[in-house]
Amino acid sequence: MYKSRITGTGHYVPDRIITNEMLSQWMDTSDEWILERTGIRERRWFEPGKDTVSGMAANACKNALELAGIPASQVDFIVFATITPDYYFPGSGVLLQRDLGLGPVPALDIRNQCSGFVYGLSVADQYIRSGVYKNVLVVGSEIQSSALDISNEGRAMAVIFGDGAGAVLLTRSEDESRGILDSILYSDGNFAEELILKDPGSSRPLRRIEDLAVQAAESKPFMNGNQVFRHAVQRFPEVTLEILQKNGFSKEDLNLLIPHQANLRITRYIQEQLTLPEEKIVSNIERFGNTTAASIPIALSEANLAGRLKPNDLVCLTAFGSGFTWGSNLMRW
Ligand code: UT7
Repeated sequence: MYKSRITGTGHYVPDRIITNEMLSQWMDTSDEWILERTGIRERRWFEPGKDTVSGMAANACKNALELAGIPASQVDFIVFATITPDYYFPGSGVLLQRDLGLGPVPALDIRNQCSGFVYGLSVADQYIRSGVYKNVLVVGSEIQSSALDISNEGRAMAVIFGDGAGAVLLTRSEDESRGILDSILYSDGNFAEELILKDPGSSRPLRRIEDLAVQAAESKPFMNGNQVFRHAVQRFPEVTLEILQKNGFSKEDLNLLIPHQANLRITRYIQEQLTLPEEKIVSNIERFGNTTAASIPIALSEANLAGRLKPNDLVCLTAFGSGFTWGSNLMRW
């Protein structure tokens, strides 16, 4: 068995900054409310005609490959996590394969919402461990702003979500002491409707595309914020502690925790539960909002650029979101 190790990280965010002040002009909200309830000051929204989900992913992947010092021609598998693909089908993985000018390498799309990157990394890890592939790009990329309802009705979601992309190159390593140690994944579909975008769903009573206008309410995302929050604050610390304990570590052994950036209050709660000092937990929600599958790889890329990841550090990625789905990856950097 081999080990897989992250050898490159990268991210890309659109240039267009949307501040809380701007949102306050479009809906009944305020910088104060958003900051106090979510910790977000600004987020990036895509520029139509310039940014696409696969294009942003390609930029993030190019950065990751450059950092790893591995040419794109050596990539032999793509795992693409997104809930906002450019097209209803085909998935964004093939568009990324094309954008990067790769040969006919396989491309797998993953739809596990805020846990998409954690799920994707676990899949890539299995392929590398078993000797099938050597270099796998795992990417999370989202354009969520185009589906947000910026009227008062949609304000609870519109202020939280942002656009962007993050990627890692996962590489086969023969050094047993470093790399991904374990992944734990969960889902509970009993809560599927608590954070949902129903259309264009296929099992709908009406013909789905033509009737989107009629079913306007269901073509907008819905979140039962309080319910999601309650589950998030339970699941995040629970699965993080579980993966540490399962692998013989305590919370004190952790060098860096990178949680999905859902809400600063949630991140602070995890930090409290795990009694982590500020420098051991990553938060960038203030600048990017919640970018769903892209949030962990963006945070990871920023942490790497800032020199917060040292060889042999014990690093945990942890996520919770729609589905509900949640999970963690544990690694020796
Ligand atoms: O990505 C993973 C999944 N997502 C999450 O983990 C997000 C989890 N949930 C949350 O982060 C929070 O529930 C929210 C940030 C969405 C909402 O914060 P909250 O503290 O739970 O607020 P609330 O929904 O209980 O609403 C409190 C009040 C309500 O007014 P009343 O009924 O008290 O008069 C809302 O109508 O705040 C109002 N409100 C707003 N006010 C100004 C809701 N959204 C806004 C807004 N601006 N944008």
